[in-house]
Amino acid sequence: MQLLKFEYYYSNKNCIFVSQKQDNKNMNKEKVLLDCWNKLYPNTSTDKLEGFIKELSNIKLEVKFKSHENEWYKDAIVYSLYVDLFNKNFQGIEEKLDYLSDLGVNCLWLLPILDSPMRDAGFDISDYRKIRPEILGTSASSSDEEKKEVFVKFLESAHKKGIKVIFDIALNHTSDQHFWFKESRKSEDNPFRNYYIWNKNKDLYKETRLLFEGMEPSNWEKDGEWYYFHRFFSFQPDLNYKNPDILLEMSRNILYWLKLGVDGFRADAIPYIWKEDGTTCENLPQNHVIVRFFRAVLDIVRPHTLLLAEACQKPKEVVKYFGDNDECNAGYHFPLMPQMFKSIAMQNKEPILLTLSPEITPEIPKNSQWFTFLRCHDELSLELVYVSEEDRKYIHENYCKNPKWDFRLGQGISARLAELFDRDERKIALAYSIMLTLPGTPVIYYGDEFGKLNDETYYKEMIKMTGKDDTRFLVRGKIDWEKLKINMENPNSFSYKVFDKLSRQIKTRKKYKCFGRGKIEWVNLIDDKEKPINEILSYLRIYKNEKLLIINNLSSEKKVISLEDLININDEKDIMGQKIQFTKNHNQLIINPYAYLWIKITNNLTP
Ligand code: GLC
Repeated sequence: MQLLKFEYYYSNKNCIFVSQKQDNKNMNKEKVLLDCWNKLYPNTSTDKLEGFIKELSNIKLEVKFKSHENEWYKDAIVYSLYVDLFNKNFQGIEEKLDYLSDLGVNCLWLLPILDSPMRDAGFDISDYRKIRPEILGTSASSSDEEKKEVFVKFLESAHKKGIKVIFDIALNHTSDQHFWFKESRKSEDNPFRNYYIWNKNKDLYKETRLLFEGMEPSNWEKDGEWYYFHRFFSFQPDLNYKNPDILLEMSRNILYWLKLGVDGFRADAIPYIWKEDGTTCENLPQNHVIVRFFRAVLDIVRPHTLLLAEACQKPKEVVKYFGDNDECNAGYHFPLMPQMFKSIAMQNKEPILLTLSPEITPEIPKNSQWFTFLRCHDELSLELVYVSEEDRKYIHENYCKNPKWDFRLGQGISARLAELFDRDERKIALAYSIMLTLPGTPVIYYGDEFGKLNDETYYKEMIKMTGKDDTRFLVRGKIDWEKLKINMENPNSFSYKVFDKLSRQIKTRKKYKCFGRGKIEWVNLIDDKEKPINEILSYLRIYKNEKLLIINNLSSEKKVISLEDLININDEKDIMGQKIQFTKNHNQLIINPYAYLWIKITNNLTP
């Protein structure tokens, strides 16, 4: 056992998540649309845009929902699921709304639900105005109106329980089964030809990196005498935003769902939307103009609808998608995810501290928010976002425990949380304690709350169906609720143990606004020889009159923390009801291997 001295230090760089930028309130939103249009299409008539703006005014009159609370996404606990894999169809999800709301969830992120041949788990959309019939649970003879009703009823039930609903929309590409593409490939003079990017050879956009290395040989696919461009699978042709019709059509697609009551959209793969020859075709300035356009459309019709950036990029690039509070409201913090895994493997807080330092994570506008996650429907991504090649190698070596889990030749790991942590509930709960208490809005990936494992059977079925060896299907299996029920009744089962710890954390997190809105102040621990102790990640979360001290023991050893005079913990238990253990003289706090405490602080901590 090691004796630790508890020291508190105040950093004036600690408000890493809040900047003082003002909203661009002065420019009226219609003007924003016009400004974007002129920037993107300088020599094009504005007739179509003017027509679109009229449509918007009509839609605004039609939409009767009560307004969203300002910045609601800062208090959200998001749960991401595939409707069919979670529980068959929308009726199945409705049956589980109580389960979700008891867990503390107040925002559902529905993984792709729109019509699709499902070769990329629904990110290959063939109709933006229809939901896949199999997840609606309607009969073959049901009319479009009846189908729409099922979804609307689901939205109403979720809203009644205080759960908002957002879903995925692929803006960069469609499925090759989309009507536009079917037309586009027919001939050079087809009216939809210009909806996609065609070339006689593969010489355009040569500097564009290949995203699906190991699964796709090129960003160009031959189709007759021509090639079409795609950033992801060859069955996902990229849309051509140089054609203004695409911008308007995609806006109309978003509006269609907004009118039905959807609370937000996850903007899939946004860094790649605009292409220019001679560039990397990522994060180009025009991309930001497009996102600003979409945001203004949402703001005109229903302000505070969430636009969430899926930009798998370094935070310095991602913050640009927040704009001046006029692009996305929120964005995923990609590098924090692998660095949480690295910290736990190293038993050292440094990777997390470094990632959240202002050098790596810049300030964001005051209305914006990071979304944080440990696992999602994709691989544990190590592309671009890690800080060094050394990190990539370290994380891959420590967590890719089975060569079958590799994704994109060492650039990712396809495994569920429980598998990555060797089915050790202590490490799983520690990782959750870190994610849930650091700044940002947490996203829970369905099944992780009870330690769901990789699903080999589902993976095999899917690679047979899609013809692509996409290991991400390992992390996307079905939930067997009958089997789960039996396990949940047995306190010795792994599922029970994981659920017991995680559900307690999630429910507790929901009660405190400081996690989603407050500032963070790092707390430094030093041992009796005045040396910094790196195995404990500790910080204060502060918002209005809430002040919590978080202590995460990353180490496999028990630790003793000397409290000195700086802190006076009156409570016997932390806010999750965990007993706080002290040494006999009450001067030192004992924390078990991989344990965590969330302690309410009432005294003034200023040294
Ligand atoms: C996003 C999705 C991923 C999908 C890709 C292409 O990155 O998260 O699952 O394959 O976009 O749409």
